[in-house]
Amino acid sequence: MTLGTESSDWTKLPALQQPAWPSPAARDEVLDQLAQLPALVFAGETRSLQAEIARAQAGESLILQAGDCAEEFARCTGPAIHSLLKVVLQMSIILTYAGGRNVVKIGRVAGQYSKPRSADFETIGAESIPVYRGDMVNGIEPTLEQRVPDPQRMLEAYFRSTATLNLIRAFTNGGYASLEHVQSWNEDTSLRFGSNPRYEAMARGIRRALRFMKSIGIARRAPELDQVSFYTSHEALILEYEAALRRKDTTTGNFYATSAHMLWLGDRTRQVDHAHVAFLSSIENPIGVKIGPSCTPDEILRLAERLNPENRSGRLTFITRFGVNQVEEKLPSLLQAVQRAGHTAAWVCDPMHGNTRKSSSERKTRRYEDIVGEVRRFWDVHRALGSTPSGVHLELTGDAVTECLGGAHPFSEDDLHKNYQSTCDPRLNAEQAVELAFEISDSCLDISGSI
Ligand code: PEP
Ligand code: CO
Repeated sequence: MTLGTESSDWTKLPALQQPAWPSPAARDEVLDQLAQLPALVFAGETRSLQAEIARAQAGESLILQAGDCAEEFARCTGPAIHSLLKVVLQMSIILTYAGGRNVVKIGRVAGQYSKPRSADFETIGAESIPVYRGDMVNGIEPTLEQRVPDPQRMLEAYFRSTATLNLIRAFTNGGYASLEHVQSWNEDTSLRFGSNPRYEAMARGIRRALRFMKSIGIARRAPELDQVSFYTSHEALILEYEAALRRKDTTTGNFYATSAHMLWLGDRTRQVDHAHVAFLSSIENPIGVKIGPSCTPDEILRLAERLNPENRSGRLTFITRFGVNQVEEKLPSLLQAVQRAGHTAAWVCDPMHGNTRKSSSERKTRRYEDIVGEVRRFWDVHRALGSTPSGVHLELTGDAVTECLGGAHPFSEDDLHKNYQSTCDPRLNAEQAVELAFEISDSCLDISGSI
């Protein structure tokens, strides 16, 4: 087995949440193949992302990291990728136009195929079967046959990630992301609720401004108007997969994860002396760590020391997810500990994972008002402590799903079943996402929207 090549001591440390592959030989065969396959991303792009995150850390721009909770092989389709891209472009243009910030766009996409779980087994009827760990590991259907981890799925995850990234690159470089299309990102026959009038007004304003710039000759040679940078990210959970795609960059001689531009660690696998942290410390990419309510000041300091010993700006992002009712209590002591120790990090708010609740019909859901509430309180805490918040981390889709409650056209808990598609956590739909972008622009960013 050729794991990653050269030094990385993670293999000797405890690694939580790893699949029990039934055949080590079959697993090793797959890992050998993965180690031969081309990188998905180029280290130079990864360095550009680090520079962009550094700018967000300085308050010059804003990070928007967004996508599915869990990607699924069956939803690796053109329309699904298109719809995610569309909503991210819409939110970005809102945050830029109404909020006055350039946006660093990072998808939870093209590799978000594995999930941490709270138990290893679940009981179906009289049978105990392994839990679903994401399409990279096993199948979601509750049968023993589907749930046995199958290493071939890692190869499939690689190829589906490649296909996804290919279409994203085509859209973002091939003209679709051009500001000329700001109106069409809002057009979708599947939208049930009609489009956001504020978005329509903004799109008209942008079109007028473009026409003006063209007529006076300043918009002719401006690639910024036609192309955008879009980066990929996922949770670095299955370490063997990540290690097989860890490569030495020929330009710098440093090691990079090449499965995505940015990787993050979940709240359940961020133990500083465990394998996941060791693996992330062996790569040069920008990395994130989810920080939940159980994290102590001592833990966050040790994470900063281990993962960013040179204190490089743009290298480390703390993605906090406390829930609307805990953010004001938990965030200050962690933030102050990091500030006092002189560590540099980007701080991003994930207002999704601390706000999950069960509906009366036992579906997982989240309330739009809790999501907005956590973002606002996160911003307030940072402001009060003289810190600069760098962005948001969201679970959303461009489709008209009914998974989160609330927003401009609220539906009741009884309507959740109408278009509930997520196999994992509930996502904002396109309409809620657009509304959230206006909300952040208005109540968090310095210039309030005047449109
Ligand atoms: C996730 O981002 O889907 C997730 C599982 O988050 P966390 O690690 O913060 O619980
Ligand atoms: Co999730």
